[in-house]
Amino acid sequence: MKKATAAPAHPLADELRPGQSVELLKELHILTREGRLNQDSRRKLKQVYHLVQFIETLLKELPEGGAGATLADHGAGKSYLGFILYDLFFRALGSGHIYGIETRAELVETSRALAARLGFARMSFLPLSVAQATTDATLPERIDVVTALHACDTATDDAIAFGLAKNARCMALVPCCQAEVAACLRQHKALALARTPLAELWRHPLHTRELGSQLTNVLRCLYLEACGYQVTVTELVGWEHSMKNELIIARRSGGPRRSAAERLRAILEEFGLASLQPVRFPRLPAA
Ligand SMILES: C[S@@+](CC[C@H](N)C(=O)[O-])C[C@H]1O[C@@H](n2cnc3c(N)ncnc32)[C@H](O)[C@@H]1O
Repeated sequence: MKKATAAPAHPLADELRPGQSVELLKELHILTREGRLNQDSRRKLKQVYHLVQFIETLLKELPEGGAGATLADHGAGKSYLGFILYDLFFRALGSGHIYGIETRAELVETSRALAARLGFARMSFLPLSVAQATTDATLPERIDVVTALHACDTATDDAIAFGLAKNARCMALVPCCQAEVAACLRQHKALALARTPLAELWRHPLHTRELGSQLTNVLRCLYLEACGYQVTVTELVGWEHSMKNELIIARRSGGPRRSAAERLRAILEEFGLASLQPVRFPRLPAA
């Protein structure tokens, strides 16, 4: 008698999630027409899957397991994240809506056409900057989840401002490079600390940039806490997959936290960054 042999595993078995549309991945050019995955796409897919997992957890924590949830994806680019989230979560849920916000009109057009082809009716793509989206009437007043994956420079700060304006229940942010704080450090030489050994932290230009980036994310977390969010910071994927790997998860958890606001103000003061307060942290509770 012939021995039964197990069906060979799908060549992408490790990359695909149950119920995942292979056609979608081909349409997004993550998979080639032959269904293969190159090294860059594998890296991108890994980042997107990890973020999708974090966002799914946040959606499931919402009332009724996320039914009817609204989500804004800022600096959406080709909207890999939005499409995969829709395919894996929103499609089966049968309700809710994803808004992709992106300044490049040609990417918005491509995403609109793809969503129409796939029948992903509860996705909208808007050719707006994050800042414009905050007051644009096309978007609903209530956005439950705000996300931004590598939105350039200060677009992450704008995404936080958007989330606060929309009273978002949660945010999942993976910042990109940021130059604003480093420029301020260079300009003011962190006045109060300049004559202390701590000035070594930003003496070399590379360190100024790294410290600027670190300070930026520390200030973002304190701002979110000061505005009533509980914050966790973690890695998105292993460092071998991406240098821009910090994931900030914020859940609305109650009233403003005075201690976080005080610390934020103190750091701005110490590092000569006070001019950033009205621009980046306008909702900081009063001292
Ligand atoms: C590095 S790409 C990331 C795209 C996508 N999130 C991803 O991870 O594949 C950043 C995108 O943000 C867009 N962008 C930059 N600044 C923006 C802003 N202020 N408002 C909206 N989109 C912005 C850019 O056009 C670009 O498509």
